[in-house]
Amino acid sequence: MLYVLNWKAGMSKDVGLEMARRLAQLVLAHNFLKVVIAPSYIMIPDVSEIIAGSGLKIAAQNCSHLEPGPYTGEVPAKTLREYGCAYVMIGHSERRKHYAETSDMIMKKISMIKTYEMIPILCVGNDHPEESAEKVSKTLIAQIDACLPKDSKLMKGPLVIAYEPIWAIGGSKDIPPVDYIKTVMKEVRKAVYDMIPIKEENLEIIYGGSVNEHNYKNLLKEQIGMLFGKASLNLVEISNILKYSCDFSNVLANTE
Ligand code: PGA
Repeated sequence: MLYVLNWKAGMSKDVGLEMARRLAQLVLAHNFLKVVIAPSYIMIPDVSEIIAGSGLKIAAQNCSHLEPGPYTGEVPAKTLREYGCAYVMIGHSERRKHYAETSDMIMKKISMIKTYEMIPILCVGNDHPEESAEKVSKTLIAQIDACLPKDSKLMKGPLVIAYEPIWAIGGSKDIPPVDYIKTVMKEVRKAVYDMIPIKEENLEIIYGGSVNEHNYKNLLKEQIGMLFGKASLNLVEISNILKYSCDFSNVLANTE
């Protein structure tokens, strides 16, 4: 089960670095916890140094769709790899909306991420809360199909898909019922198997959009990985969530 902490633009340097220190200790003590921090580009080198050897991983929040070259302001996947990123988030609805990112661009980014041996976290989502799980699944599958390179050699290995209803993003909105989320994830999983030759254990589908201390237990009970935005900016909140998740996983392991 994966936990992704999307430290959006509001994360300050001091808070972020202190949080990285504390989370590194937590993950070191519970090495089965799979936690990925996604800091802004500028914080990546410092965070990378702080968490070295802890088991915590770093994701970039974006990358260039181009190889290194004369593209002022862009950060290529190759450079992110050199600075210690293991994952890159792409296709977040905020990037699609504010930076006009197209599926074609996202596909090129995934190719770059794979070429430089990192794991893409592909974000997909629907617009309206009233849509049925079946309708949402169709929307997501179409988005994924438009973004995933179909090169089977390139696409072998791990892939993370983050199901993020656009209407739920914001930190304190409602989230869909967990059975609804499970239905969507099941349909998406089946469809991805038809698109690329990926092994079951290499495909992780997580949920994001207003996951916080009040609702994460519903997802945890179903062992659904989570992407946190706003909640990940609060050290107390995210530490409590991760500590509870450790205890829950321990109980689960002892009853199996
Ligand atoms: P949120 O953000 O948890 O604040 O809704 C989710 C995200 O970063 O996509």
